[in-house]
Amino acid sequence: MSFRKLVSLEIFVHEFFHRPPIVYPFGTSLEPPPQLTTLEYPPRQENPALKVQIRWLIRSDMPETLDIERKAFELPWMEEDFLCVLRQRNCIGMVAEYNHRIVGFMIYELHKAKLHILNFAVDPEFHRQAIGTQMIAKLVDKLSQQRRQEIVLEVRESNLTAQIFFKKMGFRAVLVLRSHYDDTDESAYVMRFSLEEETPAFLFTPENKPIECSPTGYINRIAKFYKSA
Ligand SMILES: CC(C)(COP(=O)(O)OP(=O)(O)OC[C@H]1O[C@@H](n2cnc3c(N)ncnc32)[C@H](O)[C@@H]1OP(=O)(O)O)[C@@H](O)C(=O)NCCC(=O)NCCS
Repeated sequence: MSFRKLVSLEIFVHEFFHRPPIVYPFGTSLEPPPQLTTLEYPPRQENPALKVQIRWLIRSDMPETLDIERKAFELPWMEEDFLCVLRQRNCIGMVAEYNHRIVGFMIYELHKAKLHILNFAVDPEFHRQAIGTQMIAKLVDKLSQQRRQEIVLEVRESNLTAQIFFKKMGFRAVLVLRSHYDDTDESAYVMRFSLEEETPAFLFTPENKPIECSPTGYINRIAKFYKSA
């Protein structure tokens, strides 16, 4: 074995066995860390589910969409950020509308075998009324229509609400992206929904722990959320 290979093997062994333990969100096969139990979260409000209409985002929806974005995230996307991603041919924006008012939106990319959510938010005034649930149901419906198999997204490790929400929607945390966000150097969890329930084995170590992944290949796009959300 060459000296260079030996050194990289040593670095790998060091990295693998000596790095500090990672706190995974629950939804992985690991035990949930105590701070992520649902007990700390407000119970479901009495609000009944609000039936929304989910349709394509059009230019005139931008002011309301930006308003939700600003309410939902501490470091929100600017209008140019929306326009920039929406100009891409494989990028789609959808809004949830209730009573002629935009109450949620999602931006996602179409890939050959999957949908990649880039941004997703519900107006805080309408939280816990199953609007997020209906938006995800719409995406899952598209999966089966379009013969795609999975939906993926990155969520900030501090965004526990979103982790709980996506777990409830059937997503599982499959990767940790260290220092993924440029703004806060925070890590991200990649969460994945699959029509085929099992997560591919190559994403796990023999101990069935998610493998850490280099941030390259994933784009930092989910804005920073407000903790009070
Ligand atoms: C995450 C978010 C989209 C959820 O939208 P929502 O319309 O309020 O979600 P729903 O009402 O469909 O919730 C479905 C389930 O998710 C879970 N959930 C949602 N919000 C929760 C909260 N604050 N605390 C605990 N569980 C929560 C619950 O199990 C809920 O079911 P229940 O209300 O019957 O208990 C919304 O909180 C949001 O916009 N957050 C800010 C933006 C954000 O973080 N986006 C994700 C970026 S990765």
